[in-house]
Amino acid sequence: MSESMYYGSYLQTEKILDSQFPVSFREGNTPAHDEMLFIIIHQAYELWFKQILFELDYCSTVFEQETVNDNSEDLNLVRHRLQRVIKIMQLLNQQVEVLDTMTPLDFLEFRNLLTPSSGFQSKQFRLIEAKLGLQMEKRHHKDYYKRTDEGGFNAKDYQEINQTEAKKSIQELINNWLERLPFFDAKYWNENAADSNFMQHPFWEKYTQVYQSGLTEREQQKFADFKYVFFDDTSQISDVEIQKNLRSSFSAKALRAGLFIMLYRDFPMFQTSYQILDALIEIDHSMATWRHKHLVMVRRMIGMRVGTGNTSGAGYLEGALNKHFVYKEISGLATFLIERKKLPSLPEKLMKELGFFAS
Ligand code: HEM
Repeated sequence: MSESMYYGSYLQTEKILDSQFPVSFREGNTPAHDEMLFIIIHQAYELWFKQILFELDYCSTVFEQETVNDNSEDLNLVRHRLQRVIKIMQLLNQQVEVLDTMTPLDFLEFRNLLTPSSGFQSKQFRLIEAKLGLQMEKRHHKDYYKRTDEGGFNAKDYQEINQTEAKKSIQELINNWLERLPFFDAKYWNENAADSNFMQHPFWEKYTQVYQSGLTEREQQKFADFKYVFFDDTSQISDVEIQKNLRSSFSAKALRAGLFIMLYRDFPMFQTSYQILDALIEIDHSMATWRHKHLVMVRRMIGMRVGTGNTSGAGYLEGALNKHFVYKEISGLATFLIERKKLPSLPEKLMKELGFFAS
């Protein structure tokens, strides 16, 4: 007969509740009351990180398929699970306030005992970043991430982080999915709608004209940005750094589809796709909110001292906050929107036949 279910054994509460060992409680040290809070809050974060990774893995599995069947439940589940990630992140952002009940003097009672360990070494946090699509080359102070000596990662974690980074991230998968969406196919428009000549595509020809005429005098440079972002036209932006800043992770083709989804988001058939893009933007912003709250908490807690993990401390965190957005090209699409009433009407064939639900 199988054993009957029991709360404690099902949830492994003994294991979890027997995992808090403050260093300051060890013999020879003076017990620091707040170290228990410090440990539990980190452990709670790690448990939620695990759940976030679980949800992100599901999303990758859907987008890794050769064709994403928009008519199945897959996309809706991706949307739903990304929304869950957002809710978890909101909770994680609130948790900083619990830690804030520890004062700098309370922290000082055990801080030195932690060196050289640090939240910097949270493997799961790095996996979340990597899965979302933060590339090593774009990290602030990428040299810090390559350290396996004091303050860096241990060999096992380092290897796992690298392996995850080598796989396709959600950002890359979304880029590929957007590229495959057939909104601009000639069969829905006309023979001018060749993939290679987008400036003359009936949709883009009209859109370009409406966009340009809607720009104020001060905004004229935005038209050059527009042509680079969506058509790879570098004639008016030769500076490679400016180009990188405008578009470096997503292709022009993917962003054309992304903009289209943003524009026609009110049509029921575009809603799931729109909500997925919007959820990714929201996740990026929630991560930034966490980074900001953590930074402010760190400034209050240790001022301008270096971190226990041996980075420059608040200086490093500020750089990461500013630089570690993954979906800024998607949120940046807002730069290129036009008024709803001026939107080109869509060919009936596209609306009907495509119905968005062709795989
Ligand atoms: C007293 C509370 C805390 C202080 C003073 C603190 C301080 C720091 C500092 C100075 C860094 C930069 C790396 C270094 O040199 O150490 C850092 C990074 C980090 N900490 Fe904390 N931290 C605290 C609490 C937390 C908590 C509760 C978490 C939750 C998991 C956390 C997660 C992280 C992460 C993920 C990073 C890397 C951030 C990034 O690279 O963007 N920290 N922390």
